[in-house]
Amino acid sequence: MSNSSNSSNPPSTQKPEPLVPPKQTVSSMRIVIAESNLTHLSTLLETIESIGKWVLYPCAEYPELIQTLSSGAVDLLILGNVDQGSCFEICRLCRKEWEHLPIILVSHDATIPDFYRHWVSEKGFGDVVSSDPSNRNDLVRVVQNVTSVIRAQKQALTFAVPDVQDTETYIGLKIDGKHATTPRETRLLSILLNNKVSILKACGGQGRCATCHVFVDKGMEYLTPPTEQELMTLSMMKIEQPNARLACQCKVLEQGVEVTVPKGKYLGSEAELESLVGKRAQQTLIHPLTGEILVHEGKLILRSALEKMQSVNKEFEKEMGVLLSRKSKRRN
Ligand code: FES
Repeated sequence: MSNSSNSSNPPSTQKPEPLVPPKQTVSSMRIVIAESNLTHLSTLLETIESIGKWVLYPCAEYPELIQTLSSGAVDLLILGNVDQGSCFEICRLCRKEWEHLPIILVSHDATIPDFYRHWVSEKGFGDVVSSDPSNRNDLVRVVQNVTSVIRAQKQALTFAVPDVQDTETYIGLKIDGKHATTPRETRLLSILLNNKVSILKACGGQGRCATCHVFVDKGMEYLTPPTEQELMTLSMMKIEQPNARLACQCKVLEQGVEVTVPKGKYLGSEAELESLVGKRAQQTLIHPLTGEILVHEGKLILRSALEKMQSVNKEFEKEMGVLLSRKSKRRN
């Protein structure tokens, strides 16, 4: 059961040609969005991308956030909930290390408590806003206000943004043949999201599904090695290509990585596939957990595809149970 339309080239061992990252304009504003909950991170990215031209750096983890801020080339921090670092600690650190960095705090709650607003205004941060979809207009307004102030300050000071092509900090990679740049040691999933690659990430970046898997065509050695969780998941997923990696489980360490993202639509459920039986597939339909192709683009969707999905689900549940019990025996 393999994903036959995907790239199957083995990882290259040759040192890759250095990639030339695309030139950014000096006026590009660099915004870091820090949020560990990948659903909230995606929503924030989509909203902020829709209202202006920025260079966005999504950070899902504390070390990644600190490393990105340390590059010294950040104009604004949009700070949600970050695992391993409380919002107050991060704000304190920012005031100490990057004194003039504007910060917009983001709360998951629909209503912001008054004491929180007072604290934010007392400390002189940009603002605080809710990421709840019902408050989208507030989020847009606050980001527009704060960025217009930053832009005016830049113009007044004829501030020149440092060149993003500082290869000590930023490195180049290719996604589906297109150039992208990223701070070193960024999680591959964050890079894909930042480059508007559509990824289902069904397990929220926990390494427990395969919906974020990609194929590494070059530079496998420039990624962090697979975690135990990743190896376990890939072994269950029937993705046979040796160059498959879970984007949520690896970071890019050096320049020269080239990845291909599987093409197609991940199905939401058996019911979704059942509703499509008898129609022609507008795009390749992929199993939501295993990444296996169920129907190729342009083919008629038959009941046999649904039966295949049901049997893959059963097999997956069985293998998951065996692996989890093996894992718990090893621990005991
Ligand atoms: S998002 Fe599920 S394994 Fe990466």
